[in-house]
Amino acid sequence: MSIEAVDIKYVYNAGTSAAVTALDGISIEAGRGEWVSIVGHTGSGKSTLAQHLNLLLTPFSGFVSIDGVRAAPGSREARAARRKVGLVFQYPESQFFAETVREEIAFAPSNWGVAGDALDACVTEAASWAGLSPAALDANPFSLSGGERRRVAIASVLSARPDYLVLDEPTAGLDASGVRGLTATLRELCSNGMAVIHVTHDMETALSMSDRITVLERGVLAVSGIPERVAEYLSQRPVKGLVMPPSVRFAQGLREKGVSLPLVSRVDGIIEVLEEARSRRKR
Ligand SMILES: Nc1ncnc2c1ncn2[C@@H]1O[C@H](COP(=O)(O)OP(=O)(O)OP(=O)(O)O)[C@@H](O)[C@H]1O
Ligand SMILES: [Mg+2]
Repeated sequence: MSIEAVDIKYVYNAGTSAAVTALDGISIEAGRGEWVSIVGHTGSGKSTLAQHLNLLLTPFSGFVSIDGVRAAPGSREARAARRKVGLVFQYPESQFFAETVREEIAFAPSNWGVAGDALDACVTEAASWAGLSPAALDANPFSLSGGERRRVAIASVLSARPDYLVLDEPTAGLDASGVRGLTATLRELCSNGMAVIHVTHDMETALSMSDRITVLERGVLAVSGIPERVAEYLSQRPVKGLVMPPSVRFAQGLREKGVSLPLVSRVDGIIEVLEEARSRRKR
């Protein structure tokens, strides 16, 4: 079970003097339970790719398939497949329409016929995943801070219980503890079998959390693969706008002095191992 974009080409304003090739031959795949990051400098095509994944944009060539269904735009299959993919937009505030946070979060499930206590449970659960306090549910979304609005946008997508969650720069507007909280939530959703496709500039999160990373550069693929491979590539050939975390630069410096070590340390993996060890001791 996976979402797959294959050899996508997309041109804005095609056929005019303002034509921009935003994506050229881009492929990406995420299986359920995986965390895949899309990184790149501003204008590299990340948001355009994100919008292909939930079938909002139709590629000029190439295709998107969701759980093996390659759906024609506008078809019944496309509508069904699209329900499996949630997209948190880069500027989610522009999508708000409801007068309360509760209505905003309830929109998708109530459209699908969920009502009464089941709808309340759906809203409360999504709000809690997104780190929103119950008190925020009765607020007007536009009265909230930037960070809270972002949480509302995330909750509105989670309430639809997507199998594939695409987030376009979801940490913009969050403070450091907000970023940590959201990262932990996404990790947990992944462990529960959701795929997370994370568009970000933040190489530290991408390298430490992802199963695979795709790096875009002006609409074409710079490199893709497991974090170690991407870190190796970017250490040799920097891509504009992507800043390698200090830990990678430090490891790279040690390597140049002849110390053999990986560039990426998966801190979450270490924590998991420690937790496993602790629970074994208790048994
Ligand atoms: N609606 C549009 N009309 C015309 N050109 C567009 C449109 N949206 C994006 N583009 C262009 O397509 C290219 C890719 O844009 P996109 O928004 O996908 O990049 P991005 O990687 O998400 O950038 P950012 O990091 O700034 O969000 C850019 O050259 C951009 O100027
Ligand atoms: Mg963008």
